[in-house]
Amino acid sequence: NVQFLADYRPYPFVLSSTRMTFRLSATDTRVLTALSLAPRHPDRPEDLVLDGGKGVRLLSLTIDGAVPDPAHVRREGETLTITAAALPRHSFLLETEVGIDPSANTAFEGLYISNEMFCTQCEAEGFRHITFYPDRPDVMATFHVTIDSDLPVLLSNGNPVGQSQGRAEWHDPWPKPSYLFALVAGDLVAVSDSFTTRSGRKVALNVWVRPGDQDRAGFAMESLIKSMKWDEDVYGREYDLDVFNIVAVDDFNMGAMENKGLNIFNSKLVLASPETATDGDYERIEAVIAHEYFHNWTGNRITCRDWFQLCLKEGLTVFRDQQFTSDMRSAAVKRIEDVQALRARQFREDQGPLAHPPRPDRYEEINNFYTATVYEKGAEVIGMLKRLVGDDGYRRALDLYFNRHDGDAATIEDWLKVFEDATGRDLTQFKRWYTDAGTPRLTMAEDWQPAEAGGTLALTFTQETPATPRQTEKLPRVIPIALGLIGPNGDEVAPTQVLEMTEAKQSFTFDGLGARPVVSVLRGFSAPVILSRRLDDATRAFLLAHDTDPFARWEAGRDLALSALIAASQGQPVTRDYVEAIGRLIADDSADPAFRALCLSLPGEEEIATRLFNQGITPDPDAIHAARESLARDLAETHLDLLSRLYTAMTVEGPYRPDAADAARRSLRNAVLALLTRIDGGERAEVLFGVTGNMTERIAALTALLRRGRGQAELTALHDLFADNRLVMDKWFSVQPMAAPPAQAAQVARSLSQRKDFDWKNPNRFRALIGGLSANHAGFHAADGSGYDFVADWLMRMDPVNPQIAARMSTAFETWTRYDAGRRAKALAALERIAAVQGLSKNTREMVSRMIAAG
Ligand code: ARG
Ligand code: ZN
Repeated sequence: NVQFLADYRPYPFVLSSTRMTFRLSATDTRVLTALSLAPRHPDRPEDLVLDGGKGVRLLSLTIDGAVPDPAHVRREGETLTITAAALPRHSFLLETEVGIDPSANTAFEGLYISNEMFCTQCEAEGFRHITFYPDRPDVMATFHVTIDSDLPVLLSNGNPVGQSQGRAEWHDPWPKPSYLFALVAGDLVAVSDSFTTRSGRKVALNVWVRPGDQDRAGFAMESLIKSMKWDEDVYGREYDLDVFNIVAVDDFNMGAMENKGLNIFNSKLVLASPETATDGDYERIEAVIAHEYFHNWTGNRITCRDWFQLCLKEGLTVFRDQQFTSDMRSAAVKRIEDVQALRARQFREDQGPLAHPPRPDRYEEINNFYTATVYEKGAEVIGMLKRLVGDDGYRRALDLYFNRHDGDAATIEDWLKVFEDATGRDLTQFKRWYTDAGTPRLTMAEDWQPAEAGGTLALTFTQETPATPRQTEKLPRVIPIALGLIGPNGDEVAPTQVLEMTEAKQSFTFDGLGARPVVSVLRGFSAPVILSRRLDDATRAFLLAHDTDPFARWEAGRDLALSALIAASQGQPVTRDYVEAIGRLIADDSADPAFRALCLSLPGEEEIATRLFNQGITPDPDAIHAARESLARDLAETHLDLLSRLYTAMTVEGPYRPDAADAARRSLRNAVLALLTRIDGGERAEVLFGVTGNMTERIAALTALLRRGRGQAELTALHDLFADNRLVMDKWFSVQPMAAPPAQAAQVARSLSQRKDFDWKNPNRFRALIGGLSANHAGFHAADGSGYDFVADWLMRMDPVNPQIAARMSTAFETWTRYDAGRRAKALAALERIAAVQGLSKNTREMVSRMIAAG
């Protein structure tokens, strides 16, 4: 049951308007749907095929008010077909009534109940579990929705057009595909505000939460207002309805959803207070509120023709939310964080069995393609485009995109064409970034020719992309390489310029140089590639000290740390360069504390494993863990006085504020604390845990203690304080397996899973525990297979309940082929055990079979 991009054809009917009535009931909701349809080609009659899930019971169906001959209506699998012979040749009204059971919907797709509240999730193909409908993004209609229910708050898309006791009516004038439909009904309260757009439309804003949660919704509202302003200022995009509603729900498969005028959010991305949310949570809330809001233009006003084009809206919207965060906070820090996340998630995906292009050309289950490649690599590709055409070119292209495609269901071809038309550039070769999977390996070699008149430096780059599943042959891509040159005394002798590489092998020369410079390359991470160059640790330390580009500077420190960690994990001698250079860097009080924190935090174990694997060495998780522990201890011992001074100096006085400046100081202080806890027996962390009022410091202190096998009293204290706060308890469930010493991690996870407050059907709780263990590299990859078995057991249990979550969490196994024969055999056995389950969902089946195929 594979879907292919090449098979696209327009829907043979035009749908102009959709009218729906919901009679809400927990177990037997009735949905009445009236579709105004017309054949696209009246001279070539075709069957009308509607999508409709197994749980949708058809109660009645009429065409222009008449019941068709039952012989012409056929239900098979997930479709309902009305044969052409039963359909008028002109426009007609198709009316259906169906019954659905929201209370039985544990997959949280379609209409379901979370905490006594009705809510929906329709992207990608959830609407078909609500009613029979052409559930595809290129079929767009205006919606008029009536909700009958005694619940106090009844919401849908668009503008409210009628409210009476037990009934609400909503009209959405903007034609939209079914995946943007939403409905919410429940006992909710709003934090309200308003925003006046620059052309004078006054928009009512509401963040709806459960009674009692209002005091944690203010930051979400502030973030929304900042987002609305930013999209006007930077992209010239205004909001287009009279109301904008956000609703927080506790059971949600993903982060959030951009339904027109009614965004629905996982409550962890709305609710925040200093006592319950960390600095990282605040930053994510701000970014995701912005992301969903930005979708109003990039996703809703211009949507996707089909799901293969998903990165058209997601890559662009991620790119926009990244720009927003850079403007709200530190651009340098944001870039480094994004690259770290890209490498950890997307590079991992791109180098394994699940590799796929940002625009895939086949899938079995579209929900399996809401990936780091579609989202984050999709955003990187846009960053490269912008670098190549320049800021002005980008602005012209985007203006053209909004003008030309407003109201369209568009494609990646449409997107590239606006750049070609706006800038005159041919993007044929560039398009490979969208169609080809895999991360290019870029190699740089230097040739220095001294001369009296001035020396010449020749840089020769070669690119090569390894084969990925179903794509063996890879052609060279356009790679923008940003670089600068640093003179031997540490001054920059050539500022950043962008080289445009288009060949498999290509040289660039720089002449008239007084002395041999050090090359600062791939500044700002100008392309998502894996760079290799020969560089000794002393030169890396030089770049860490002198580079003017913050990303390249951080990268030099990263490479230095990795070189030490790799040597240590291989039992080779370790140079002092890293430990000494990092000491100089963190002592520099003129540098942003957040930047210093990023440099001070050692690469994670998985990152070290990846580096080894890319060098052709089989990673040994236990040796990696030991190497990282010993380097951390070395750092702490060497810099004990400096770290102690910083720990005091970075104390943040006064009430908690989630802004970038305070968060930066806390991040450095917490990084320092993690090191000091290795030496002080946990004293500082225990004190901090006891005195702090904010979750950022509480979790940092607790994590530092757990990593040292301590922290039991703090765990109990946290539980006692927050037992009835789900979001804090999620942290409680995740930090334990994540920070447990590897040999105990699976056992820690197993005993947590036996608690009665392990409410595993809640996606956040399941992710907390299962994801927590998967994030413990040496724990998940324990040589005895205990981590693999534990995760496999829970995936099998989750699959029939919520296939999307099971499939997504199965990616814990995506690197399994990197390890030694013993681990491989155990991981494969776990995957095969899952694959053997009778009735396994197509979601999990697709994922597991792709991973097994890599063996
Ligand atoms: N469009 C949403 C976002 O990125 C994600 C929804 C994905 N849902 C899913 N079931 N795959 O903002
Ligand atoms: Zn999105």
